[in-house]
Amino acid sequence: MAIYREFARFYASGPYPEYSRRMAELLPGVLERFGARPKAVLDLACGEGTFAVIMAQRGLKVTGVDASPEMLRFARKKAEEAGVAVRFIEQDMRSLALAEKFDLVTCWYDSLNYLLEYDELAKTFSNVAQVLNLGGLFIFDMNTIYTLAVFWQQRPCHIELDTPEMLVIHHNPCYDFESNIARLMITAFERESKGWRRMDEEHRERGYTLSQIRKALSGAGLVELVCYGNLREMTEPKPDSGRVFFIARRRGTRVWNSERIARLIYWSLWASLTRLTSAATNSSLTRKRSSVPNSKESPPSFSLSMSKTESWDSPASTVNGMARRSCFTAGLDRSRKRSKNGFSRLSSNMPGRVRLGS
Ligand SMILES: C[S@@+](CC[C@H](N)C(=O)[O-])C[C@H]1O[C@@H](n2cnc3c(N)ncnc32)[C@H](O)[C@@H]1O
Repeated sequence: MAIYREFARFYASGPYPEYSRRMAELLPGVLERFGARPKAVLDLACGEGTFAVIMAQRGLKVTGVDASPEMLRFARKKAEEAGVAVRFIEQDMRSLALAEKFDLVTCWYDSLNYLLEYDELAKTFSNVAQVLNLGGLFIFDMNTIYTLAVFWQQRPCHIELDTPEMLVIHHNPCYDFESNIARLMITAFERESKGWRRMDEEHRERGYTLSQIRKALSGAGLVELVCYGNLREMTEPKPDSGRVFFIARRRGTRVWNSERIARLIYWSLWASLTRLTSAATNSSLTRKRSSVPNSKESPPSFSLSMSKTESWDSPASTVNGMARRSCFTAGLDRSRKRSKNGFSRLSSNMPGRVRLGS
């Protein structure tokens, strides 16, 4: 069953694009923190184009790539309505092939969770490194294992969109602790001239540990600059964070942009001044010590905060363990049997208590 085929219509009309709108709102603060001023942007798994269109409205040169032709149809329409030029390309990010390079690559929301094999994630990161300009940034987020194994499972059935024309229901989530893959059913109804038309899609998402994500990044030649659990607050991930945000750049890249040159000049001036004042102080025994910092005092630091948070998933099973424990405390019975397709099916046949069983 292909995903984002019929669902694309509901996605474009539902609450979902609000997420990338929020990301677009937060992006300038993040870029400023890393001294980045991108001109060419690639939005990977761009979906129905909200983020790409906002970037184009800000004057950036934007390319959007997605595997779903239906989502891209909405994206093109959105760009046209906004009166901006965005190049939308139908491609699978696992086999991304683009001739030009970009200063910034983004991949938002659950998109990378749709890669169900570690090798697919690693290949996608390598593809990103290939299309990044020297010094370019890769910013992405993913659902955590905690979200898929706990948050999703705590909501066996809920309505995502309810309008006179459309109804979207997310239901029957289940999670396989061995593969870290969650399954979610999406059933949607759209009003037609005579009644309602129904569609069903099965979505599978995989959760990755921070160690796995880091391994895939470094294998692709991407250096992690920072990892956040909350992009707005720019804080480290916690064991129960719903999402993780990574900011990475290509390894071995040094770009002498104006900001970097300005920093170098500042550092050099500071060092010279410090040396001069130190010499002056030492040469005059009768003079009082100068209040200018002495040579041992370090200049103000410009280094980026490298938030490694290794303990978060070290050993790698910690998150999985947390998720399992949380399922337990959330009232989910851990003693489950695996069903034929490898998934633990959730049933809620005990009032007030959700039970994992086959
Ligand atoms: C949850 S949507 C996110 C869309 C958009 N980034 C946003 O924030 O609204 C996931 C998107 O990933 C796309 N996608 C999933 N697997 C993909 C793949 N292998 N290559 C390219 N796009 C993919 C889907 O078609 C869908 O548009």
